[in-house]
Amino acid sequence: MTSMLSELRSSVEAVLGSDYPITLDVPAEKPGWLAIPVFAAARRLGLSPQDHAHQVAEKLAVVPTISVTVEGGFVNIQPRAEACLRVLTEAQMPTYGHSSAGNGQTVVIEFSGVNIAKPMGIGHLRSTIIGDSLQRIYRALGYTVHAVNHLGDWGTQFGNLVAAYQRKYGDLVVRTELTVDDLLALYVDFHSKVEHDPELKVEGQAMFRRLESGDVEVRALWQSFVNLSLIQFEALYRRLGITFDDVRAGESRYHPMVAALIEQAERSQVAVESQGALVVPIPGESVPLILRKSDGSTIYATRDLAAITYRVREYHPDQILYVVANEQALHFRHVFAAARLLKLLPDKTRLEHVKFG
Ligand code: ARG
Repeated sequence: MTSMLSELRSSVEAVLGSDYPITLDVPAEKPGWLAIPVFAAARRLGLSPQDHAHQVAEKLAVVPTISVTVEGGFVNIQPRAEACLRVLTEAQMPTYGHSSAGNGQTVVIEFSGVNIAKPMGIGHLRSTIIGDSLQRIYRALGYTVHAVNHLGDWGTQFGNLVAAYQRKYGDLVVRTELTVDDLLALYVDFHSKVEHDPELKVEGQAMFRRLESGDVEVRALWQSFVNLSLIQFEALYRRLGITFDDVRAGESRYHPMVAALIEQAERSQVAVESQGALVVPIPGESVPLILRKSDGSTIYATRDLAAITYRVREYHPDQILYVVANEQALHFRHVFAAARLLKLLPDKTRLEHVKFG
C-alpha cells in the first residue's frame, strides 16, 4: 500500500514539480487517495482556486495510472486499478506488500473451530476463510504464525452421541463405514427422543463420565467419530487451499489440564462456590464464568482457559486471535477477563476476538 502511494506521488510530482503540496489526509467522503490543495498556487497566479484546480487536473491527464477529479480548490487523485496492476511484474507478485514489520513477534491465530459429528456450518466456513486470510497477511508481515483449529471434540454431547449409538447398534463397536451424516442423524435422534425418555439423558451422562475417565471402549468409539469427521473437513480444507499448523488442536487436548487449572483457581481464591458450582465472578458482567458445574463436569469456557495456558507454554505468543462469530462475544469477554484474573498469561500478551457476522 505505502509503496503504491509513493509510486502515485512520484508520478504526480513528475508532472507538477514540487510547487504543489500533496496531502494524504483525504476526508473519507471525498474521492481520491491523494489530494492537492491549489489555493496558494492559485493566489500566486491571480486565479480562482476552482479554475486553477481544473488547469492542474488537465495537466495530470497525461498520467495513465491515475484518475483525477476536482472539488473546489482540491484536485483529488485515485489510482486506476488496471493501470496499477500492470506496474507489478510476475516476479514481484509473490512478495508484493510483504514486510518485516512482524519479525520477532509470534501470533496464534485460531480459526475454523468446526464441531465433530456435525457438518461444517456457514459460521465455521466464514471463520475458516477469514482466519486463513489473516494467517496469510500475518505471515506476509513477517510474524511467526501458529494456525490452530480449536475443534469442538469434547463435551456432554459426545456422551449423548455414544448413548444414541449404543441404542441403535446395540454395542460400542467402531464402524468405519459411518459418515458425518450418520452421526448427525444419531444426534437428531437423541434430541427427539430424550424429551419422552429421560433414561436416555442418564445414559448420555454416564457415557460422558466414561469418556472423561478414559474408558477404552468409549474412547475408541469417540476417536472414530473424530477421525471420520476430520477426513471430511480435511478434504474441504484441501479444496479451499487452507492449511493449519495444528488441525487437531481440539477441546479434548485441554481436558487433561482442567484439573490443575481448577486447583489453581481455588487456591488463588479467584474462583468461588456458588450454588454448588465453582465460578469466577467477572467485574462489570452480570453473570460469572462457570469453571465447574454443580454436577462436577467442566464446560467449554473451562477448556478455553486451559487452552490459553497451553498456548502460552508452547508458543510464547505476543497475541492470540480468535476468529469466531459475534454470538460468542460474551463468552470471549468472560474467558479473557478470567484469564487475566487467574494470571494465565503475561500482561503484555494480547487476546483478541476477531468477530464477524
Ligand atoms: N467449536 C466452536 C463452535 O462451533 C467454535 C470454537 C471457537 N473457539 C474457541 N476457542 N472457543 O461454537
